[in-house]
Amino acid sequence: MTYNPSRRLFLGGTIAASAAGASGLIVPAGIATAAAKPAPQVTYGPAPGIAKLNANENPYGPSPEALKAIAQASSQGGAYYAYNAGMYLRDMIAENHSLKPGNIAITAGSSLILAFAAMAATSKGVILGPDLFWDTTSRAPIRQGGPEIRRVANTADLEIDLDALYAAIDDDVAMVHVCNPNNPTGRIVDPMKLKEFCIKASKKTLVLVDEAYNELIEDGPKHSMIPLINEGHNIIVARTFSKIYGLAGMRVGYMLGSEENMEFISKYGLGGYSINQAGLAAAIASYHDEGFKTFSREKVNEAKGIILSAVKANGLTALPSSTNFVFVNLGENGDANLFRTAMEKQNVLIRGQYRSYKPWSRVSTGIIKDVQMYANAMPMALDEMYKQMKS
Ligand SMILES: Cc1ncc(COP(=O)(O)O)c(C=O)c1O
Repeated sequence: MTYNPSRRLFLGGTIAASAAGASGLIVPAGIATAAAKPAPQVTYGPAPGIAKLNANENPYGPSPEALKAIAQASSQGGAYYAYNAGMYLRDMIAENHSLKPGNIAITAGSSLILAFAAMAATSKGVILGPDLFWDTTSRAPIRQGGPEIRRVANTADLEIDLDALYAAIDDDVAMVHVCNPNNPTGRIVDPMKLKEFCIKASKKTLVLVDEAYNELIEDGPKHSMIPLINEGHNIIVARTFSKIYGLAGMRVGYMLGSEENMEFISKYGLGGYSINQAGLAAAIASYHDEGFKTFSREKVNEAKGIILSAVKANGLTALPSSTNFVFVNLGENGDANLFRTAMEKQNVLIRGQYRSYKPWSRVSTGIIKDVQMYANAMPMALDEMYKQMKS
């Protein structure tokens, strides 16, 4: 499809200026405003010349509509708590999934509500998860003396082993945490198998499915476990505006589940106070923006093509990816930390080693020229990695 990303700069500039002018807010004469002083030297995105491919963001966001909404909401509502906008987004999400507003909790990014869920679960027992998944929030309770995550080995090709996960559920398990598609592997499980697992497992314990990357799949709804909430299963699902919507810096995420589960989990923090007008406005403007989502998916696929060609050209392999990142196998003797350092020397930021998976290196898709920088940097970075390994 045709979509002009430069339009967002135009809109961002002009709307911000006109929205401020139209806000009706009056600054009394004689009050010095920051606008009169030199602009502070803050960098809000990656520094110029840096290819930031380490955090699975969508650098094509915010969408033009989101930028317009951010400017309007900031000027009209920046002085006020964001209660109304929060309720509005909650209703939109509820309506989209035929749920009630009480089935949804919105926080500043999904990490927050995911961490609350982890705290709630560990007040009752342990969290069970695969060996390799996005475990940042389920590890959060450990810092307060909570239990370690109980882990189940992934399959040989790094898929989540649902049978083994089910077999590991015992009376001590208070929550099983599945991330689908998974981070950092990029792998997705068969939707029918996952559904079967969720129904069986949720009879024994609470099942959390983190669907942060769901919208990046062409047939996302087919892979979502949200309908199981409607059917009354003991399942909670997390979603975020940080990935396909390109709003990672605006911090909006949410969780869906039964009203009882949402009430229980929400006791572990004041999530409603974490949300902000600008982020909510961006999320509301983006939620049904199919044009922007399609455009973003196309850019992700183009970037993945470049990454996979470079991987092949350098004699390496990678896992199939259903996300906006690729898990690259640097070979039997590869070292993801050394490779990351070598890439950094060429201004390319990627991830280092995960747990004991030394040769596996994760790279996010990004602006095409940045992904091209990664591809161009690869031969030299590999040479440097091998040299360092010998020394
Ligand atoms: C699987 C998964 N869930 C949640 C998050 C956190 O996202 P948010 O920005 O909504 O806190 C990430 C971030 O990378 C992620 O990979």
